[in-house]
Amino acid sequence: MNNGHKQVEPSVFVIFGGTGDLSKRKLLPALARLHSTDALGPASQVVGVARNKEHTDASFRELVQESLTSFAAELSKDHVEEFLSRCHFQTIDRSTKADFANLKDRLAKIEAEYQLPGNRTFYLSLPPQAFASTLEGFQATGLNREDGGWTRVVLEKPFGRDLPSALKLNETVHEVFEERQIYRIDHYLGKDTVQNLLVLRFANAMFESVWNRDRIQAVQITVAESLGVGSRAGYYDSSGAMRDMIENHMTQLLTLMAMEVPSAYEADAIRTEKIKVLRSLAPIKPEAVVFGQYAPGKVDDEEVQGYLQEDGVPEGSQTETFVALKLHVDNWRWQGVPFYLRTGKRLPHRSTRIAIRFRDVPVRLFETMGGAAMDTTDILMITLQPDEGFSLHFDVKKPGSSLGLQRIPLRFQYKEMFDSMPEAYQTLLHDVLLGDQTLFVHGDEVEEAWRVYTSLIDNPPDPVPYESGSWGPPEADQLAIPERDVWGPAGD
Ligand code: BG6
Repeated sequence: MNNGHKQVEPSVFVIFGGTGDLSKRKLLPALARLHSTDALGPASQVVGVARNKEHTDASFRELVQESLTSFAAELSKDHVEEFLSRCHFQTIDRSTKADFANLKDRLAKIEAEYQLPGNRTFYLSLPPQAFASTLEGFQATGLNREDGGWTRVVLEKPFGRDLPSALKLNETVHEVFEERQIYRIDHYLGKDTVQNLLVLRFANAMFESVWNRDRIQAVQITVAESLGVGSRAGYYDSSGAMRDMIENHMTQLLTLMAMEVPSAYEADAIRTEKIKVLRSLAPIKPEAVVFGQYAPGKVDDEEVQGYLQEDGVPEGSQTETFVALKLHVDNWRWQGVPFYLRTGKRLPHRSTRIAIRFRDVPVRLFETMGGAAMDTTDILMITLQPDEGFSLHFDVKKPGSSLGLQRIPLRFQYKEMFDSMPEAYQTLLHDVLLGDQTLFVHGDEVEEAWRVYTSLIDNPPDPVPYESGSWGPPEADQLAIPERDVWGPAGD
């Protein structure tokens, strides 16, 4: 992400799971957008790989075209056509070594035809249980080797489902690829507003000087979604909000908020600081956790069914669709400052935001003058999506003869200042092509993240039902009471 001036080299981008949902919704549109801005690399080619034996280059191109019509509609006809001409398809049965050999031959042919130097990205958009056999296939046929060009592998989340499986997966991947070749994706890191957290902190002395236990009372991170599990119950029910959101996206947000200034703006330095935060996290107390599961209710004025009624959810499932928890970063900077994480499906609306609640004034000079007992703590609200922006909330004197205070927001909204934001996958795929690992998760980092949540994953509390369209179980609000709760519907 810090390599805007660098040119992408010509390469072949291979998508395992090329006809799947993620490929259609995110990967192909992102690659086509990169292509439309000359950021895919001169003469670079895309190869969709899937088990589907029915597909041919022509039918795969039809699928790509449909994907672009739905998810990259702004691209011109010329750009789409040119991109389509760069797309190819290869069938593979992941358990058959001969199929990997065929893929290898196919890639060599494509590289010869377009005079490419042998740079390859393999994107594994596959269920986690398919990683091992795919990696074996690479090793058996030497597809992991770097003969003449570079080889990179991109791994989609979830990276394992707990600490032992993540350790095992890292071991397996490291048998086949070196860490410098491995790109573990967390798409939250591709969001511009998430990257901006480091700019906010480390390019503005004003903020960094108050970013500590002396000035901050609490940090609350919320990722609220109004959608339910939709058609993903098969995956979601064995995952739940802990594995789906907390261990990865939300923990990434936490580390970016809490980390020390890195020695340089580059992958190793940033990852080192993030890992230190994870290692400083104190064990989570059972009373600092609330799990919930959505029950029927109303979202956006529509009646919606509960989680247990969703298609594919097993009867009596105890999977959590909501988690709120309190964490402590047990280090010098953050001693005594709670970090609250809260995420859930079927909440009133979609909103990802971070509230930084500053400590109150030492003496409440105006307490008796403004009517209700006044809360004069200042809040910096960072809205990561949608309506990206910031608001700083503080008190002013309400004009008039009596001395009354009013809380006002000082706002900045991205859309008022900037035309558009790149899509997270576009940023991340561009970084893979440039060989920049800054926005990807290191193997040690993913292990540390699982370690933090091991006790909770091993002994999950029972989820408390909450009405769809509410902000989760009331118990979750109780968690933040000591800091005078700021999470809630308005959120600003
Ligand atoms: C995905 C989760 O990683 O992130 C989904 O699997 C979740 O369950 C999604 O809905 C949220 O991402 P975003 O970018 O819409 O906030």
